[in-house]
Amino acid sequence: MPLPAAQFHDLRDRCVLVTGGGAGIGAALVEGFIHQGAKVAFVDIDERAGLDLVDKLFAETGSRPSFIHADLRDITAVRQAAETAATALGAIHVLVNNAARDDRQPLEAVTEESWDESQAVNLRHLFFMSQAVAPHMRQAGSGSIVNFSSIAFLLNMAEIPAYATAKAGIIGLTKSLAGKLGHDNIRVNAILPGMIVTVRQKKLWLDEAAIAAMLEKQCLKRSLTASDLVGPCLYLASDCSAGMTAQTMIIDGGAL
Ligand SMILES: NC(=O)c1ccc[n+]([C@@H]2O[C@H](COP(=O)([O-])OP(=O)(O)OC[C@H]3O[C@@H](n4cnc5c(N)ncnc54)[C@H](O)[C@@H]3O)[C@@H](O)[C@H]2O)c1
Repeated sequence: MPLPAAQFHDLRDRCVLVTGGGAGIGAALVEGFIHQGAKVAFVDIDERAGLDLVDKLFAETGSRPSFIHADLRDITAVRQAAETAATALGAIHVLVNNAARDDRQPLEAVTEESWDESQAVNLRHLFFMSQAVAPHMRQAGSGSIVNFSSIAFLLNMAEIPAYATAKAGIIGLTKSLAGKLGHDNIRVNAILPGMIVTVRQKKLWLDEAAIAAMLEKQCLKRSLTASDLVGPCLYLASDCSAGMTAQTMIIDGGAL
């Protein structure tokens, strides 16, 4: 991954927890925070991917992030992961709620179970992880929570009613948490990625025609990759954005 152009000196030794850090954007974020000298823990359901990332980063940088193997659909596991991260690193100062699964399911196929499953994997854990981490941020005297939403809910995409609902819900959650936690100097912002070409996206949804169609809409005529999200996330995590909360940042190459 290309290294971010900037060094955010306040992120050195900061305790950072990233969810879904084993692959895709989350893995790029873990790497980005490691390169800032932060202390990093990440949660993922994919044990192999998590362990491989720890080995890769240790070999490349000499720093070893803490990997916590957990399923974020399980709220007891969410709470345990927050405590495990704080025990490993110290009071969590930055939380990046990134984990999600963008399954596609048209209107007719959605069941009660699949609806609840989608909200559990794409929305519910963001609230409970924030709730679990907020006391650590109070203890640290400040904090920054970055929630990953998506521009998908703004595109009238027919095949993702449950996912789009969850991603729209993240904006409401971000603003409500910002209103509550601002009293404790904890900031909460959201990032809305556009089309980000990751391994999973290429495997499941992004053929050449889909990429070409999105590039037609974008102002920037190149595909965005996971590394395009690193700089914006570091900025929101850092005190460089100290006056910024309850906001949404769109990183989509100008597609909207
Ligand atoms: N890639 C894109 O084009 C795109 C576009 C818009 C928004 N986003 C958002 O960006 C974020 C990252 O997306 P990505 O493309 O890197 O996804 P990805 O699928 O490549 O990575 C997601 C990670 O989350 C983990 N995960 C999934 N379910 C989990 C669970 N129940 N418990 C623990 N970990 C779990 C996966 O194992 C994986 O490592 C998501 O919130 C996604 O909605 C991505």
